[in-house]
Amino acid sequence: MEVRVTVPALRSHKVADGRTPLVMVTAYDAPSARIADEAGVDLILVGDSVAMVVLGYEDTLQVGVADMAHHTAAVARTSPRALVVADLPWLSYHRDRADTVGNAGALVRAGAAAVKLEGGRVRVPMVSALVDAQIPVMGHLGLTPQSVHVMGGFKVQAQDDEAAAALLADASALVDAGVFAIVLEGVPADVAASVTDAVDVPTIGIGAGRHCDGQVLVFHDLLGLQDRLAPRFVRRYADLKAEGVKAVAAFAGDVRTGAFPSDSESYVRRGRGR
Ligand code: KIV
Repeated sequence: MEVRVTVPALRSHKVADGRTPLVMVTAYDAPSARIADEAGVDLILVGDSVAMVVLGYEDTLQVGVADMAHHTAAVARTSPRALVVADLPWLSYHRDRADTVGNAGALVRAGAAAVKLEGGRVRVPMVSALVDAQIPVMGHLGLTPQSVHVMGGFKVQAQDDEAAAALLADASALVDAGVFAIVLEGVPADVAASVTDAVDVPTIGIGAGRHCDGQVLVFHDLLGLQDRLAPRFVRRYADLKAEGVKAVAAFAGDVRTGAFPSDSESYVRRGRGR
């Protein structure tokens, strides 16, 4: 029987202890979750990147708890072996502890085993509230897309010593508050390496270099399902957008020439089969 990935199994997963790097991929629906799980990833992130990647928005600020619950439920219905983590969307954990726990609870009831939230020391009260409510929390530091307007765009963070020290302090505070893992996004590789060395929970990098305890990519980026400009950290392992255009164009051609459907793709009345 396949063993499901659990939060306790991940909490102390450190490459420095000889463990293999963790693999996390985003998924937003049942087909993408099945592909990720059959490929053997450790974690599936129902990211609020769904806003940009699937729903066509310019940033991640446009989705709410109901949207995230809808996509989380679609992923969870596939019963993946991988741990399902759902993003708490913007403004769902910024007001008060009760609101935060209620919103995270909605994602857990939709099928998530854990939630992810962005920010460091300022989020500690909310992380504590979630941990008190038995909801595992993943942190997210560095380039935090929900802060796009504060950052003035999607920009690499922690570039000077002061900002790098602040990031380290944020990571330590999140760990003290009880997070079981931290995503490090868009930070210099040496800064990610220092954080990874300093904390006893796994770090999962995206645009954070190779010295993390795992890596995450957005499903549509790694499969080349979109061909918009990609940041330098994206490696495309397939070109499925081009394949898709080719396939739909072939279908259109077959319809227009009458080559589709064939007799074998059509039904005949009982007793009149060829
Ligand atoms: O929403 C998302 O896809 C994310 C990853 C980039 C880590 O938060």
